[in-house]
Amino acid sequence: MTPAVDPDALLDSRPSVSAALAAGADALRAAGVDAATVDAEWLLASVLRMPRGALRVEPGRTLEPTEAGRYVARLRRRMNREPLQHVLGTAPFRHITLRVAPDALVPRPETELLAEWALELLPPTLTSPLVIDLGTGTGCIACAIAWERPGAKVVALEASSRAAAIARDNVAALGLSGHVTVEVSDLFATLGSIRADLVVSNPPYLPTALIPTLSPEVSRHDPWIAMDGGPDGLSVIRRIVADAPARLVSGGAVVLETGGDAQVREVLTLMQAAGFTERCTRRDLAGVERFVAGRRP
Ligand SMILES: C[S@@+](CC[C@H](N)C(=O)[O-])C[C@H]1O[C@@H](n2cnc3c(N)ncnc32)[C@H](O)[C@@H]1O
Repeated sequence: MTPAVDPDALLDSRPSVSAALAAGADALRAAGVDAATVDAEWLLASVLRMPRGALRVEPGRTLEPTEAGRYVARLRRRMNREPLQHVLGTAPFRHITLRVAPDALVPRPETELLAEWALELLPPTLTSPLVIDLGTGTGCIACAIAWERPGAKVVALEASSRAAAIARDNVAALGLSGHVTVEVSDLFATLGSIRADLVVSNPPYLPTALIPTLSPEVSRHDPWIAMDGGPDGLSVIRRIVADAPARLVSGGAVVLETGGDAQVREVLTLMQAAGFTERCTRRDLAGVERFVAGRRP
């Protein structure tokens, strides 16, 4: 086991950027953080308010005591296995940057591919397509769609009122208030009778028993409601697939993120039973067959 490294030593000196990075990476590595060097760079860049790449331009610049103090405080949070994005307060997602906080899942890189597929499934001929994003979390998918398809109207539904508040903040900060509405809702419950051209969702899909075995960043810091898909991971997906046909126009599409591989097969079967046609799957960045789409005939 790697011995613990105390970053407080940085407070007693006036370390250079390169020395601070080396000590920070050592401390993170000893705490079990995977991408220790990269994370130390992000943390120091955020303290110095410069792009991460700019750190290499001035490796000999010394840190002021207040800068060293802020850096050590952020290192300590990351050493406690808070997700990097919680410490930084933001996460990039496609062409936008979102505020993140512990009440909403940190947007994942693979979900960028779900948003991309959702955009492709919107017929190009529609000037103002209506999209429903189920379980919006930070609002990442809803905002990305509205950002990249300016005519689209997105209804973002979310069971957690605290996550919905974060999504609303992001919608407002991105200037998308006229395009995305966020509502607290148990799946489609508050929707009324509207029908959408597309339903997109990255739902909770992890089997309950799996969650405590995941990394501390996930098991201790992502909201349980964002991950828990019940005993087999499919509790929420089953409801979405069963209810989606009644929420779609004829020819409308549904596209979902899943736990991948075996779960994809089960979701395809659920979609077939619900009457979806043109069922197909796509792989994520790691090659895992993760996304499923279908169309209401
Ligand atoms: C895996 S997270 C995805 C969050 C976000 N869309 C993303 O991709 O980062 C699932 C989200 O669904 C929400 N959720 C869970 N059950 C729900 C339900 N019954 N109705 C609406 N939202 C729900 C959770 O609170 C969480 O925000």
